[in-house]
Amino acid sequence: MSLLITGGTGYIGSHTVVELLKLNKDIVIVDNLSNSSTLVLDRITKITGNSVKFIKVDICDEHALNTVFEQNDIEAVVHFAGLKAVGESNEIPLDYYQNNVSGSVTLFKVMAKHNVKKLVFSSSATVYGENNTSPLKETMATSATNPYGQTKLMVENILFDLAKSDEQWSIACLRYFNPIGAHESGLIGENPNGIPNNLLPYVAQVAVGRLPKLQVFGDDYDTPDGTGVRDYIHVVDLALGHVKALESLSRISGCQPINIGTGNGTSVLEIVNSFKEASGQDIPYNIVPRRAGDIATVYADASVANDLLGWQASRDLNAMIADTWRWQSQNPNGFE
Ligand code: NAD
Ligand code: UD1
Repeated sequence: MSLLITGGTGYIGSHTVVELLKLNKDIVIVDNLSNSSTLVLDRITKITGNSVKFIKVDICDEHALNTVFEQNDIEAVVHFAGLKAVGESNEIPLDYYQNNVSGSVTLFKVMAKHNVKKLVFSSSATVYGENNTSPLKETMATSATNPYGQTKLMVENILFDLAKSDEQWSIACLRYFNPIGAHESGLIGENPNGIPNNLLPYVAQVAVGRLPKLQVFGDDYDTPDGTGVRDYIHVVDLALGHVKALESLSRISGCQPINIGTGNGTSVLEIVNSFKEASGQDIPYNIVPRRAGDIATVYADASVANDLLGWQASRDLNAMIADTWRWQSQNPNGFE
């Protein structure tokens, strides 16, 4: 039987596919390549020695998805496919709702039709909104402040309703904190289109000389050095969280939200200084006003992941930054 990985050629998907292939799982990737390229498939094979089946499919295309389920013996789905840029979601909200919400509903309908009711879903710490105090716990109230966050919250709510309607569903909603880093081989990593929105890819591109200067969004937060604090998690630890979640689905009834973070917070300036040290490059920066929608401090209470999945992060910030730098310096222009 095979695992279906939607969005499997993307950043987190590709790292998860590597960890699953290492366990000799049969994998089918579907992706519409809107934010990735098939060049990653050769890299995955180089790392694992295994090849992976890829089918170019848009998850909004019910007919094509049906064919995938008819032609492959799928036992469970890991659903990464989605658009993920917060700023862009404010500009083209309908595309986000169509792709992330309608696409997910289409996928779940096709899964139900084929009696595949095991699912791991990529949610985000963004569902905790602005009004909770870290460490964030799964029992806290959820809310969203932008269309991207709304799509994650809506899909979570759809999954809670689906699991209530039919007790055969086992669903893990993994709420990722801030994934960074790359595979230790330096062969796969994050490859953003255009100018990066997130801190780590931006800093990495400054270090490699593709961008001139980092803008630090505010140094007047109520944090030790005034800059924003986040829970950065190594993408390979995150990938291993998916492996554990898949193994645990038989013990999960209904839809279970699970934080995937380290439980530690790191400031923007700590990231800049660690990156400087790891890369030996200067990282020039300016302090600029706060970015709308940002909050001071976000980090996880990761105890549910530990108790329920037997998972905890094991790679520290030095490894996250060293691996980001290896990927960026070996592939200054991404996969091209
Ligand atoms: P990514 O853009 O690298 O990967 C997503 C993949 O989905 C891409 O390969 C893209 O081509 C594909 N895709 C998008 N829409 C599709 C569609 N309609 N049909 C088929 N394929 C489609 O992003 P990522 O960082 O790997 O994120 C994976 C998931 O995790 C996303 O759902 C994202 O919202 C979520 N997430 C990411 C982060 C993060 O910081 N990277 C944080 C929290 C949650
Ligand atoms: C962003 C998203 C959030 C998403 C998360 C993980 C926004 C408003 N929020 O959050 O929905 O779940 O990514 O994908 O986009 N920073 C700078 N300069 C930069 C970039 C970032 O100073 O050029 C700072 C930010 O202010 C923040 C920290 O770095 O304090 C991390 O930023 P980022 O990587 O964008 O992640 P989040 O803000 O956590």
